[in-house]
Amino acid sequence: MLTISVCVGSACQIKGSYDVINRIQSLIKEYKIEDKVKLKGAFCLGRCTPEVSVSIEEENKIYSVSTDNVDSFFKEHVLGGIN
Ligand code: FES
Repeated sequence: MLTISVCVGSACQIKGSYDVINRIQSLIKEYKIEDKVKLKGAFCLGRCTPEVSVSIEEENKIYSVSTDNVDSFFKEHVLGGIN
């Protein structure tokens, strides 16, 4: 199980947290990996990035994600992480 936390803290929220969450949710459905990934919202991850901060808890890493790079983030770190 991979845990993805998307920051919904105020700085990230104005940069589009909910758009990023919605897109990740659709990609999870599209790839039918609902049983392998847990998606949740989180408060300020303590490291505000230029875009929306998204952490993969098992990797202990924080990525800067926007609607422009969410698809490549997902392919590389989510699909890559569960395979
Ligand atoms: S508000 Fe999102 S990491 Fe700080």
